[in-house]
Amino acid sequence: MRKIYQIFVALSIILMLYACNKSEKKTFQIGFAQCTMNDNWRKTMVEGMESELAFHNNIGMTIANANSNSTRQIAQIQQFIDDKVDLIIVTPNEAKPLTAIIEKAFDAGIPVVIVDRKTTSEKYTAFVGADNKLIGQNAGIYANIILKGQGTIFEVGEGAKTSPTIDRHQGFLKIINKNPQLKLVKSLFSARQPQYFQEEIRAFLSQHPKVDLIYAHNDRLAHAIANVCKSLGLNKKIIGVDGLYGANQGIDLVRKGIISATILYPTGGEEAIKTAVKILTKQPFEKENQLFTTIINAENVGIMLAQYQKIKEQQDDIKRQASKIIELTRIFSTQQNTLYLTVIFLLVVISLGGILFYLLREKQKSNQVLANQNRAILEQKDEIERISQLARQATEDKLRFYSYISHEFRTPLSLILTPTEDILHRKSVDAKETKNALQLIYKNANRLLRLVDQLLELRKVDAGKMELEVSQQDLVAFVKDIVSDFNVKAKTQHIDLQFICPFAQMPFGFDAEKLDKVLFNIISNAFKYTPVGGLIHVSLLKNIEKIEILISDNGIGMSKEEKERAFDLFYRGNQNISLGTGLGLALSREFVSLHQGDIEVESEKGKGTTFKIILPYVECQSIEKESVKENAYLRESVEPITPIFANNSVVHDNTIVLIEDNQDLNQFLTQKLRIAYNTVPVESAEKGWEEILNNIPDLIISDVMLPEMDGFSLTQKIKNDFRTSHIPVILLTAKGQMESQIEGAKAGADAYISKPFNQQLLEEKIKGLLENRDRMRRRFSSEITNPSQIQKTERKFLVEFELLIEKNLNDSSLSVEKLSKELGMSRVQLFRKISALTNKNVTDYIADFKLLKAKALLKETDKTIAEVAYETGFNNPSYFTTFFKQKTNQTPSEWRNS
Ligand code: FRU
Repeated sequence: MRKIYQIFVALSIILMLYACNKSEKKTFQIGFAQCTMNDNWRKTMVEGMESELAFHNNIGMTIANANSNSTRQIAQIQQFIDDKVDLIIVTPNEAKPLTAIIEKAFDAGIPVVIVDRKTTSEKYTAFVGADNKLIGQNAGIYANIILKGQGTIFEVGEGAKTSPTIDRHQGFLKIINKNPQLKLVKSLFSARQPQYFQEEIRAFLSQHPKVDLIYAHNDRLAHAIANVCKSLGLNKKIIGVDGLYGANQGIDLVRKGIISATILYPTGGEEAIKTAVKILTKQPFEKENQLFTTIINAENVGIMLAQYQKIKEQQDDIKRQASKIIELTRIFSTQQNTLYLTVIFLLVVISLGGILFYLLREKQKSNQVLANQNRAILEQKDEIERISQLARQATEDKLRFYSYISHEFRTPLSLILTPTEDILHRKSVDAKETKNALQLIYKNANRLLRLVDQLLELRKVDAGKMELEVSQQDLVAFVKDIVSDFNVKAKTQHIDLQFICPFAQMPFGFDAEKLDKVLFNIISNAFKYTPVGGLIHVSLLKNIEKIEILISDNGIGMSKEEKERAFDLFYRGNQNISLGTGLGLALSREFVSLHQGDIEVESEKGKGTTFKIILPYVECQSIEKESVKENAYLRESVEPITPIFANNSVVHDNTIVLIEDNQDLNQFLTQKLRIAYNTVPVESAEKGWEEILNNIPDLIISDVMLPEMDGFSLTQKIKNDFRTSHIPVILLTAKGQMESQIEGAKAGADAYISKPFNQQLLEEKIKGLLENRDRMRRRFSSEITNPSQIQKTERKFLVEFELLIEKNLNDSSLSVEKLSKELGMSRVQLFRKISALTNKNVTDYIADFKLLKAKALLKETDKTIAEVAYETGFNNPSYFTTFFKQKTNQTPSEWRNS
């Protein structure tokens, strides 16, 4: 592209230069070999040529002056030949010497126009000039006239070898020889100018004063002779040649009477150019162009002058016009150049515009290609991101899944290992206790087995190896039977459980074992997420196409995302749903689709959930077997194990709030903890928080994986609240991974015990934390206002509490109620908090603070005892003194002076 541009610019420059030089460039070049330039006749000839050339801009002319030197003129003509001029005009200095070179030029194909003088050859293209013989004859005729046929004549000419001299002489002789009365006494020819042979003329005239007439070959000679005659006192008739117009030229000399006559000899300048133009432009032309001649004497000189005047004026006019034309041509040429330039410029602009347009188009195209590529790359990137997101999600889901498996296995394992260890550690165990423990172990072993079964079943479904074992049964009785299994649980949890079906019987072919698992799972699920007092309705509907079993509850419901991925085994959302549920729902979907059916879920957060099982209905008349209650597989007992110990009514020093959603583990732990602590068991974090605020316990044990709010969030909440931040928290969970522990530590948990845990270890941890707290408390109680060992959050609390006391120090009515209100706590909460942190009750704490302040004021200020008393909130200075003495065994003054 760059190259094209460079070529383009170069072309433009060449065109411009061409346009600029156009007017200068001549089409033809003429070489003019002039024999001499030293006289007016020759100057007039050149002027005539130039004024004619003015009409031909395309013709240029180079003039070479030979200065009457033939050798020089030959060389000059040779130069013209070498220069390959288009045409040569020549006035041969001498006839013979110049003939060869002129022939040479002619032979070389250069047109030759001979003017004025001749060569001895016919080899020339054209001749322009007057007939010199005729000139001589005219002079003879006129001499005869003015001499009236009788007299002596003296002849003077220049350049004896020039053709005019020769011809003029011969022409003259031809006439006078006819009259014997006319006698040519002397012919004087010289190559020199008149001034050089004036003396010879003078000498001749002095010797022959009687000569009657002098015939001079040109007016210059005639004038010089007239001057000589005058100086000699002679009055002679003189005839000249040339007849130029102008001061002291031939015509003027005739008019003044200095000479008698002049024979007109036109220069032929214009005619020579005209002929040359015709030759150059290949127009027809005459080879011989003889110019007009006449005698100018006293009789016609007036007319001649008038005519010349007129001609002169016309010539001047022509000159003016020619110069005007030249000027106009120049303007035209300039304008033409401007036009050329403008056109070129426009062409350049248009071409550049074209190139620019082309480049722009190309750029747009390449931009488009780039944009397309970019889009494709972005799409690919998005696709890769999407795939990697999916892969990440799948990995996360799998990790979560394994985490759940671990959790799900660890909880029943805890409930197998912990009671086993417990019994093993006991020195004596009664039978009832053993039975209870074994029941718990059995139940949890079954749960483990069931989980393993479910996992295997799911694998089987995945592998496509699961088959239906269809039998014709009454579906109404079948569903009703499963629902009734939950009656006791519903009663315990005060849940309105109903089976709704408009049909008495519904014979239908299905795999009883699988449908039982589906319904059991979904109903169990509903119980898990429906609060006490809620409802769970199971409906069985049918039309000619399908059967629908709807399980609706008004429980906690699901978010949109949870709903969408309810059947996704690897996704459990933010909720800590047990693996049982996850596996159950995933299996349920597989089992229903094995029946060519579908399972849908409708749910709204906080409002409840409805699972809809849709089975394609195929009419069947008979019932093969009655609905079987004794299903051949294990399924989870819906009843909780009876508590091992009865509620312990003994009141202990310390209270523990226990949060564990697994009922069995909750009950088991509660029974164990109640031996040594007041235990408040709850199954959710929300309930736990309520109990924590109610009791301000001494310790909290919480599971991590809880429905709704998890253990980490709860710990954070506890640690961020002034009222509860001092309470040690033990997180108890199946999550054994390191990151969970870090998460727990970040949330501010004091200890972290992973399932399956050792009962003794848990107890030791509890003891340790409580002792630690007591130790700190003892230290703080002696370190009032400087609780350096206390945790940062607790120190902050105490500082704020002390600032509050200080602010109200002089307020005698300062009470615990007032302080707790300002701190946003209840009186009991404040009491427990201060007691937990410092082992002091709030009143004592305030009193001690006042005492400290009073001590400082007494020592460090000059205030009176009464002033100090008032300042520290004592209405009565004597009561202050009694208080001070009681606490310090010193009176205020004794302290001040000590
Ligand atoms: C000028 C001149 C004229 C004459 C002519 C002859 O050089 O001498 O006076 O007529 O040449 O060639």
